[in-house]
Amino acid sequence: MVGRHKEVKIHFLPGHVQVLEDDITIPTQRALITGATGLLGRAVCKEFRDHNWHVLGCGYSRARPRFEQLNLLDAEAIRETVQDFKPHVIVHCAAERRIDVAEKQPDVASDLNVAASGNLAKEADQVGAFLIYISSDYVFDGTSPPYLEEDMPNPLNIYARTKLEGEKAVLQNSEGAAVLRVPALYGEVERLTENPLTLLFNCVQHTHEYAFLDHVQVKFPTHAKDVATVCLQISQRKLEDPSVKGIFHWSNNEQMTKYEIACTMADVFNLPHNHLRPITDAPVGPILRPLNPRLDCSKLEHLGIGQRTPFRIGIKESLWPFLLDKRWRQTVFH
Ligand SMILES: NC(=O)c1ccc[n+]([C@@H]2O[C@H](COP(=O)([O-])OP(=O)(O)OC[C@H]3O[C@@H](n4cnc5c(N)ncnc54)[C@H](OP(=O)(O)O)[C@@H]3O)[C@@H](O)[C@H]2O)c1
Repeated sequence: MVGRHKEVKIHFLPGHVQVLEDDITIPTQRALITGATGLLGRAVCKEFRDHNWHVLGCGYSRARPRFEQLNLLDAEAIRETVQDFKPHVIVHCAAERRIDVAEKQPDVASDLNVAASGNLAKEADQVGAFLIYISSDYVFDGTSPPYLEEDMPNPLNIYARTKLEGEKAVLQNSEGAAVLRVPALYGEVERLTENPLTLLFNCVQHTHEYAFLDHVQVKFPTHAKDVATVCLQISQRKLEDPSVKGIFHWSNNEQMTKYEIACTMADVFNLPHNHLRPITDAPVGPILRPLNPRLDCSKLEHLGIGQRTPFRIGIKESLWPFLLDKRWRQTVFH
């Protein structure tokens, strides 16, 4: 929570001193956000700052100059950062989330997603900080949705396995921690290639080329800012009620395939979509993915926690800076 305080300002004017009292809000709660340079971490930093928390955002290769550089593979660096800042809450967004990279370099993915998460949880516990570990709907195999928090995970690929092991490492090292599983995310990106969903906008706009898109595996595209709001709400609740801990699910409830996501992008910007073609055969490829990992979110809903931005609204907000047709952009937005 934040506190309201009287700030006394003393103005020295020639001949007299004027004392003014201002009623201002000073942050009294500290939040450390890992992965602050990434899609979700940026949204989480903004959400906590907008609610007057004192935020320390940590990134790695993209950290400078806006964020603190913290290599989570360095256990000593984690200890120093946590001990110095003494956060009340840590939202752990950093991860190797590129599925193909995790498959090629499983040890690297495991070092970051599992070992570093365990170390961070240990340090959180030392200073009494509440840790939220961001996990994934991919911990499930997608054969019997919707999934409750206590349903049996069965990860199908290496990324998903490391996320599940990361959950266990966190809960073993910090008994009061929380795991928040979320589905495919989108949001404000620095470039379209930053995120697998926003990347689809490239083929939507290149109307002269056919794009063949999966129309079998379903996703629940969720706005990063909604997940950020949920992290803030869980943190606020935890400060009032220490029994808030364990695994939680949050997800948008609009079910779409990649093909449907691309068609919706075309639709909201009035672009043609005849060049978008559905692939209705079951996906084949070296990396298995769950066909329908829908998350049941009723546990958080019963706590009165949650926010869902309709996909058409959220995707329009996120993509319009990347519209190639500037004339259209001027007509609609200016
Ligand atoms: N995106 C999705 O669709 C999705 C779906 C389900 C779950 N999730 C989970 O949500 C979380 C956030 O995902 P995201 O999409 O925001 O990820 P992202 O955009 O790929 O960001 C990854 C973050 O991890 C940081 N990082 C990488 N290596 C690091 C290291 N050695 N030390 C410290 N930080 C390091 C990166 O920092 P630099 O860039 O500065 O190096 C970056 O800030 C992850 O836990 C992910 O598993 C994501």
